[in-house]
Amino acid sequence: MEATIAITEAEHKKTKPDPETLQFGKTFTDHMFTMEYTEEKGWIYPEIKPYAPVEIDPAAMVFHYSQSVFEGLKAYKGPEGDIILFRPEENFKRMNRSNRRLRIPPINEELVLDYLRQLLELEKDWVPSAEGTSLYIRPFVIATEPSLQVAPARSYKFLIILSPVGSYYPEGIHPVSIMVEDHFTRAARGGTGTAKTGGNYSSGYTAQSKASSEGHAQVLWLDGVEKKYIEEVGSMNVFFKIDGEIVTPELNDSILEGITRKSVIELLEYWNIPVVEKRITMQEILKAYDEGRLEEAFGSGTAAVISPIGELHWKEHTLIVNGRDTGETTKSLYQTLTSIQTGKEDDPFNWTT
Ligand code: COI
Repeated sequence: MEATIAITEAEHKKTKPDPETLQFGKTFTDHMFTMEYTEEKGWIYPEIKPYAPVEIDPAAMVFHYSQSVFEGLKAYKGPEGDIILFRPEENFKRMNRSNRRLRIPPINEELVLDYLRQLLELEKDWVPSAEGTSLYIRPFVIATEPSLQVAPARSYKFLIILSPVGSYYPEGIHPVSIMVEDHFTRAARGGTGTAKTGGNYSSGYTAQSKASSEGHAQVLWLDGVEKKYIEEVGSMNVFFKIDGEIVTPELNDSILEGITRKSVIELLEYWNIPVVEKRITMQEILKAYDEGRLEEAFGSGTAAVISPIGELHWKEHTLIVNGRDTGETTKSLYQTLTSIQTGKEDDPFNWTT
């Protein structure tokens, strides 16, 4: 059963962008979804309306203490022109985990998924069909109460905006150079690293610009306590193939629980490829490399799906992974995940809807 919501259609529809020139997150569709939260009434006024700036009080708490969470998922155009979502319920489950961490009231996951479906129904012509393209979905919550008190807000806004995006790598996936960050850290034990909240991303900009200025694509984050254990790469989870076994840092309260990460693990298990989640140090990676046992390395996330690592730079060491080529397992994971997501391949896991 569909939840009833107010829908106001845009009078003027935008011209759809050329799929060839789409950049990540720069173009937005004709409509958006919004709802409000008040302490007295809970989540109210769900509505779909023309995409437009939102009026918010300058004292809204989100501007001052960053009380906000977001999610990211994609809709794909299937072979029959149908719209496919990849594990969307996982995103709203995670949003509620982030909400809990930021003291934001929970959303009704099923209802919100239904609202998203209705928004997508209206915006279905915005889901691009060219190879490598998709409609990126950005649900987010912001604290709107006008107050400078350092405390959880009593009012919030939940929005969903949609952005047609091109292939993350227009020429296909290619291995990138990574700088292992020794000084700055992304998250600390007991911090907010496991929540999808904006501050976790902007606090990485300094390290990222240092990496970029030295010619690297991303930063490899080490743990915030000993700067010894590997945590994430850029805004992605990270995997290594050592001696035929895939290893990824085990989840703790400073690593984001990626949905692509979870899917990679499930897919590897399905293929009977050994995969372990454990604490892993940069020293162990270097040792495996020196002994010729480091076979592949890659990041996983919604935006890039799978991103191979070609080089790792750590202190005075340069590790060239798999001769800077995309490894076989990395390639298979990318191809299988994207084929399932776009409905080109059977989905034995029932991930798509
Ligand atoms: C992802 O790829 O999953 C991300 O989190 C990137 C996003 C922040 C743009």
